[in-house]
Amino acid sequence: MRDKPRAQDLLDWYDRHARAMPWRVSPADRRAGQRPDPYAVWLSEVMLQQTTVAAVRNYFHRFTLRWPTVADLAAAEDTQVMAEWAGLGYYARARNLLKCARVVVDQHGGRFPDTRAALQELPGVGPYTASAIAAIAFDRAETVVDGNVERVMARLYDVATPLPTAKKELTQLAERLTPDTRPGDYAQAVMDLGATICTPRNPACGICPWRAPCRGRLAGTAPDLPLKLPKKPKPVRVGYAYVGRRADGAWLMERRPDSGLLGGMLGWPVSDWAEVQPVKAPPLPADWQMLPEEARHTFTHFHLRLKVLIADLPVDAAPERGHFVSRHEFRPSDLPTAMRKVFDLARGAFAADSTGFAEDR
Ligand code: ADE
Repeated sequence: MRDKPRAQDLLDWYDRHARAMPWRVSPADRRAGQRPDPYAVWLSEVMLQQTTVAAVRNYFHRFTLRWPTVADLAAAEDTQVMAEWAGLGYYARARNLLKCARVVVDQHGGRFPDTRAALQELPGVGPYTASAIAAIAFDRAETVVDGNVERVMARLYDVATPLPTAKKELTQLAERLTPDTRPGDYAQAVMDLGATICTPRNPACGICPWRAPCRGRLAGTAPDLPLKLPKKPKPVRVGYAYVGRRADGAWLMERRPDSGLLGGMLGWPVSDWAEVQPVKAPPLPADWQMLPEEARHTFTHFHLRLKVLIADLPVDAAPERGHFVSRHEFRPSDLPTAMRKVFDLARGAFAADSTGFAEDR
């Protein structure tokens, strides 16, 4: 049998190839004694659970410019944080982000706890995030297992069990490899390896620091791993969305209840969303015109198709639900993506000369 994989080989590779990220301390700076800011690590890890490194960069910059410390974030207005989070999805995470910042300030004197167990007590911090912060920010020998790490382990050990059944096995394999020296850099190194070399398709095995001990490469199975059980198809839900514009250019909007889908986010008044056509639910009587195209958006558990209705409303319009947002205050970028898609359809349908709104970011 070939050599066993060694953490040190990956660390040596990371020293040369670590990706630069705004929340990261490079291996060289780390050796010079610099430590990552736990606030930056926490914020980036929560964001990275939503989307790609490339997309997170922009959000991370905006958040840290506006709220440079956890105390600044804890003191922020909820609606401002929800607006900055718009587009990232999973809005419960943004609400938990705020809750967590406030707990860190109120109960921990503004400093993140430095063990996995204590971190996991914080709102919205699950096993993954707790391990990531403990390892990356505090150099604890915790194992961080995300999709990248699962793929790397499945290939390295040629694991034929499909996901999600294989999760436990892959986690144990990852734990066995985690070193006591530089566990923070190591955690990031495995994720970087998965993102840049051990990629889902066409892995670059020829330049992999673990090519010699990789059983998947030797067996020729690597590109097909990890195996995955088929996913259940998502149901389709349908509903109506109402985009009303008052004669002075203000938009009729509605903040969604804190709990539930898109909780706490600003949006358009909508009907219920159901698998059979729900009853219409206009926020006020008006000459609602249905657009020919639907807004389509996919959530974790279902596909949504919204029929979009638009209306010009008089200056004295008195809606039963929602409130008007002036054309100067309205920023499409504050909307969650599903609502943004509704707006993109509606804006084209209103007269082009009067759809003014605050500059988009
Ligand atoms: N994905 C999630 N967290 C990451 C990190 N710290 N480095 C690289 N990729 C990641």
